Amino acid sequence: MDARSSSSSSPAIQSHGVLLLNSNGMDVIYSGDRITYKVIGGVIDLYFFAGPLPELVMEQYTELIGRPTPMPYWSLGFHQCRYGYKNVADVEGVVAGYAKAGIPLEVMWTDIDYMDGFKDFTLDPINFPLDKMQKFVDTLHQNGQKYVLILDPGISVNKTYGTYIRGMQADVFIKRDGVPYLGQVWPGLVYFPDFLNPVSEVFWGGEIKRFQDILPFDGLWLDMNEISNFITSPPTPNSTLDDPPYKINNAGVSRPINNSTVPATSSHWGNITEYNAHNLYGLLESKSTNAALINVTGKRPFILARSTFVTSGKYTAHWTGDNAATWNDLAYSIPGILNFGLFGIPMVGADICGFSRNTTEELCGRWIQLGAFYPFARDHSDKYTSRQELFLWDSVAATARKVLGLRYRLLPYFYTLMYEAHQRGTPIARPLFFSFPQDINTYEISTQFLIGKAVMVSPVLKSGAVSVDAYFPAGNWFDLFNYSHSLSVKSGKYIKLDAPPDHINVHVREGNILAMQGEAMTTQAARKTAFQLLVVVSNSGNSSGEVFLDDGEEVEMGGADGKWSLVRFYGGIIGNKVSVKSQVVNGGFALSQKWIIHKVIFIGLKGKRLKRHELETINGTNLNGNSVIKESFDSLGFLTVEVSKLSLLIGKEFKLELNF
Ligand code: NOJ
Repeated sequence: MDARSSSSSSPAIQSHGVLLLNSNGMDVIYSGDRITYKVIGGVIDLYFFAGPLPELVMEQYTELIGRPTPMPYWSLGFHQCRYGYKNVADVEGVVAGYAKAGIPLEVMWTDIDYMDGFKDFTLDPINFPLDKMQKFVDTLHQNGQKYVLILDPGISVNKTYGTYIRGMQADVFIKRDGVPYLGQVWPGLVYFPDFLNPVSEVFWGGEIKRFQDILPFDGLWLDMNEISNFITSPPTPNSTLDDPPYKINNAGVSRPINNSTVPATSSHWGNITEYNAHNLYGLLESKSTNAALINVTGKRPFILARSTFVTSGKYTAHWTGDNAATWNDLAYSIPGILNFGLFGIPMVGADICGFSRNTTEELCGRWIQLGAFYPFARDHSDKYTSRQELFLWDSVAATARKVLGLRYRLLPYFYTLMYEAHQRGTPIARPLFFSFPQDINTYEISTQFLIGKAVMVSPVLKSGAVSVDAYFPAGNWFDLFNYSHSLSVKSGKYIKLDAPPDHINVHVREGNILAMQGEAMTTQAARKTAFQLLVVVSNSGNSSGEVFLDDGEEVEMGGADGKWSLVRFYGGIIGNKVSVKSQVVNGGFALSQKWIIHKVIFIGLKGKRLKRHELETINGTNLNGNSVIKESFDSLGFLTVEVSKLSLLIGKEFKLELNF
């Protein structure tokens, strides 16, 4: 996506998108004013999305490729994973460590360690035996937590292994020269299911069902699906598929196209060559897995895939792959997640605290501060690195409680953004230019980002730093940890902000209304807390926001009536009155859950103290009564007014008015 203003005197916004829909190998070279595609096959299906606003580009692009799938509410909680957990007791110890430290842990993961000889759909009988795993998963579920496990596409070639036997019977594997292609991954020799073959969906779905029946996991992690292969098979002599005349950039160098993957001369169902279909493998595996999970659980699936293609967002979440525990990779994670949001895969995150290499207390602390605001927040590390669960250092644990506390309070906002992504394709995490396309200074910024349009995250990305130079587009901004730390910016500029080791700067902009809930150790518990409405008053206009609510696991988001609610909020100042009111688009579900707003906080008011407040429903019922009002001024003279002890049903329209 490109954004630019046509001229500095009359900044008409001109953003547009370009998509070359082609699954062949290619080099794409972007040099600021031009883009060059060097494609080694296929057809030229070239699309332009005229925008002109970034939101419209995303709407047009995802209308073509498919809107992002909604994810279950719980997947917005914090996830812990590691390659190298030794046994069930080890994993249980991690869950207990989080509980003891008072850090929310939503999802516990296991990597390939749980498998018997690294075979999919099996359990290591010694270290991860079935009875102990069942008890472990059951305990997680009783505590409102979830369990996700890894699957690799390579199926071990082993005549005593049920998955292999059924795969052979169904004839689902990718072939080369008429026989299944033999690769090598963790279990040793493997065949790869051909997800282009419709039969593979039945095979794969059947394997998932068998395993789900014995171990009720909540989501699946699809790794190594590029396809990653530990061997490079020799090319077929004189084949322009295995050895094409133009060598694309393959993993940073012009190495042969077949390196560490399935050879290009291999064939899929319908005689489609791997040369043409290579880049579709992760997408098709995600699609099959998504269908299987809906079939088996009847719930909204959670899938995390490493390899993706155009349309993957319709089926899966994504993480940015094997990063390292370095400050560079901490910084690089921001453009990484922003790019995937723009590709149409909004549920994305990077391995928090770094995957390879040993992390440090300082880096891990800074990483959870940033990672707490990734759409997908998971701590994950490599086998031979030092452990990096957040409770291992007191300072990291303290900062994790603080930042995840804010994340959990913002869960209704994150979830509503997921709804927006599903409706219109708008990313959850967005570059600054998304909301401020007329401010050309924002175009180059990849050290900060926005969550939705309201919240800006400005992390520390350098070792030893205790301040951060953050860019603020014009407007009034308020620190979400402490509303009285406000900033007023006439035209966009960099501001040096304090960022002591325990703090990340997160600001909300004037003009927004956030529906927030309370902190808790699980998303399930957080959803039971009362709401508060944060009305960030704008002196130059109105404020607005919305909240989408459903049970968080209904397959269709916003499907059948009665199963979801959407409520919009509008606030504004007229004369000596400031008010907020709700417009209930669909209230039934919220009413059935008896969700209430117990507190309304207005921030960003300028002026004198209040005289009185009026509180009424739209139909005139007076709700004044027990509410309590607290006022305070900050150093810039902004007034915060907190109206508490309310019990406004979210599903019913209301209006609250304060008089100066
Ligand atoms: C590669 C993945 O990227 C990584 O996250 C995982 O831990 C290893 N494979 C082992 O399964």
